[in-house]
Amino acid sequence: MKFSPDILTLKDGTQADTPEKFALRRAEMLDILAREEYGYIPEFKGEVSAQVIKSSDDRICAGHGSLEEITVSFDAEKGRFSFPLKLIMPVGVKNPPLFLLINFRQEIYDKYIPLEEIIDRGFAVAVIYYQDITSDDGDMANGLAGLYTRPTDGTGFGKISLWAFALSRAADYLFTRDDFDKENVAVIGHSRLGKTALWCGANDSRFDYVLSNCSGCGGAAYEKGKRPEAETIEHMNKVFPFWFCENRQKYAGREDEMPFDQHFLIGASAGRRVLVESATEDLWADPQAEERSCIGAKPAFDIAGGEAVHHIRHGKHFLSRNDWNFYMDYISRTINSGGTDNEKQY
Ligand code: GCU
Repeated sequence: MKFSPDILTLKDGTQADTPEKFALRRAEMLDILAREEYGYIPEFKGEVSAQVIKSSDDRICAGHGSLEEITVSFDAEKGRFSFPLKLIMPVGVKNPPLFLLINFRQEIYDKYIPLEEIIDRGFAVAVIYYQDITSDDGDMANGLAGLYTRPTDGTGFGKISLWAFALSRAADYLFTRDDFDKENVAVIGHSRLGKTALWCGANDSRFDYVLSNCSGCGGAAYEKGKRPEAETIEHMNKVFPFWFCENRQKYAGREDEMPFDQHFLIGASAGRRVLVESATEDLWADPQAEERSCIGAKPAFDIAGGEAVHHIRHGKHFLSRNDWNFYMDYISRTINSGGTDNEKQY
């Protein structure tokens, strides 16, 4: 199958056939995705500060975990912004790998977070709640959305870009700590937040693993040639236009003309590891199209290192224990076989 546009052909027509040239191609792809799909993520040059609201003295999950509640703050363009971050560490584990999850609910005892399984396998998990950042609707004035000037030329940020931005600010804080394994950090999200994790990870190379769960249209799913049951840009324009920039809307029914496709989203994390998880009954997200993007991105990984893996489990649209175990198995295997850091090529 031919993927369009070709992931390794630079704008000047030359091939990204070395890691150095791929770094240039990656920058081009990120720019196309920002301009045409998600909108530009606001620039951030400052520093975050953090206040511990609740210290880790409390033990949770049979005493195997500790919970810290932290407020992360920073100066945005038009004022100061703060959001809560919860950090759960496995007690007695030195240097645990870390998941940074953006989730649908504030509560950490949540159907998408099998907390005991995660900490009992020796992983730490940090969680932010997406609507603590900005609401999940077209209101571009509340929360973080109101604190940055939004370009009106079609490239202004959609909500996914703002949620992705917040994940990077959470990472800014987390990387100031020294109690987890900074070479094995994963960003993870499900569905609209799987789209967000992919976009965040594509831009922010501090994440060694970029974990997409049932992310579908606007996430891992390749747009061209989707099956009839699958979600399309046309549907999203009607229901969720605010997740993206306005420029994306013009591609409804014109996917063949797109100067990008979702293999760019996966390929922009080449050099690192992208795990794309689908579910057999999640036809709306289109598992085959999700796999296609991984295949289309493969040449980028062949040049830059790392890999993109597609995995499909039985069942419905859900962030399940099975999915977490797949991610944890993969990360454990990677650590045991020598880690990730030597593969980063940019
Ligand atoms: C809808 C939407 C999907 C999205 C999902 C979710 O089904 O069409 O694109 O992934 O919501 O985020 O739950």
